[in-house]
Amino acid sequence: MSKNYDDTWLCEKLKDLPYSACITDPNQPDNPIVFVNDQFCEQTGYTREQAIGRNCRFLQCVESDQDEVRRIREAIDAGEEVSADVLNRFADGGLFWNRLSIKPIHDDAGQIQRFMAVQMVLKDNPYETLAEDKRRSDTALSELHHRLKNHLTLIHSSVRLQMRDTGETDGLVGVLNRIQSLQSLYSGMRQGIEAPSEMDDVDFFNYLSSICAAIAGLDENITFDQLVPEEPLMMDIDTASQVGMMVAELVTNSMRHAFDDNGGKIVLRGEVSDGKVLVAIEDNGRGLGADQEEKLGSGLGGKILKQTAKSLSAELDFNPSSEGMSVSLWLPLDRPKEDD
Ligand SMILES: Cc1cc2nc3c(=O)[nH]c(=O)nc-3n(C[C@H](O)[C@H](O)[C@H](O)COP(=O)(O)O)c2cc1C
Repeated sequence: MSKNYDDTWLCEKLKDLPYSACITDPNQPDNPIVFVNDQFCEQTGYTREQAIGRNCRFLQCVESDQDEVRRIREAIDAGEEVSADVLNRFADGGLFWNRLSIKPIHDDAGQIQRFMAVQMVLKDNPYETLAEDKRRSDTALSELHHRLKNHLTLIHSSVRLQMRDTGETDGLVGVLNRIQSLQSLYSGMRQGIEAPSEMDDVDFFNYLSSICAAIAGLDENITFDQLVPEEPLMMDIDTASQVGMMVAELVTNSMRHAFDDNGGKIVLRGEVSDGKVLVAIEDNGRGLGADQEEKLGSGLGGKILKQTAKSLSAELDFNPSSEGMSVSLWLPLDRPKEDD
């Protein structure tokens, strides 16, 4: 029984840890604390005498999430490890988010004799931070959609005007059709974002290249080329559509700013190496002067691209040169999924 269980070795181990830790005894009524290290007292503000003999729930408050508390209780009852973020109170009454990690300690016969836990104070509310990041990236995506829809509507009406003024229909009808297919491509992407789990993976570079080709095809002076791996890279539709939106914004930007009347060339470059995927949009346009380089990426479009890249845990680099512009996105392949 627990009275005979010698936990000195465990106390010794936890005593000098640089973070808060405690031990409880599940063989006593209500699983009370039997040991806390100095960091526990420093972190919570409770003295050893105030903590020992009580169940750790004394740190909780009415705002603590009861579903999380139930999850912890069920794990402890089942003798399993559990981790959770719980809202707790310091001795001075202040609230803090406690990242808890609890483990059962077994004796040689496999009986649970103690539970031990380490506790970490989180700087931010983990749920708010997640929700805030998601909110920001959703706003960025909606803004991207909005801008793309506007670009398309503008092009659409200018083509129609041109058709009316010149009476020319050949060729322009084709352009109108391409705009329409782009518009449906964008609505498809939007649905992909809203219902990613119901959709299949897509051939990533093929998907990106069809977006680039469709946009670049709107101007006959622009040629489009792709340098991507032959082997298909399958990607979830959620990620693919977010990268697709970024690529569409970059290609549209190049078409608007990079070239004179003689047009030029846009290249989609793709690569897979070291667990990362490179997606780059390059043009051979006028590039940027040194004074303009600083401004690059600081406008609304740049901010949206950065926000979307952040939500994908990707690195975004703007590389202007005298020979044109290249924007590259390095996307990690083993990103944690949102619902993991
Ligand atoms: C070793 C150990 C350490 C714990 N530390 C904390 C803690 O720091 N903060 C907290 O809110 N709950 C902590 N708990 C969880 C509570 O003690 C308790 O198990 C939880 O509130 C669920 O049980 P209840 O519904 O009976 O309260 C800890 C549990 C164990 C076993």
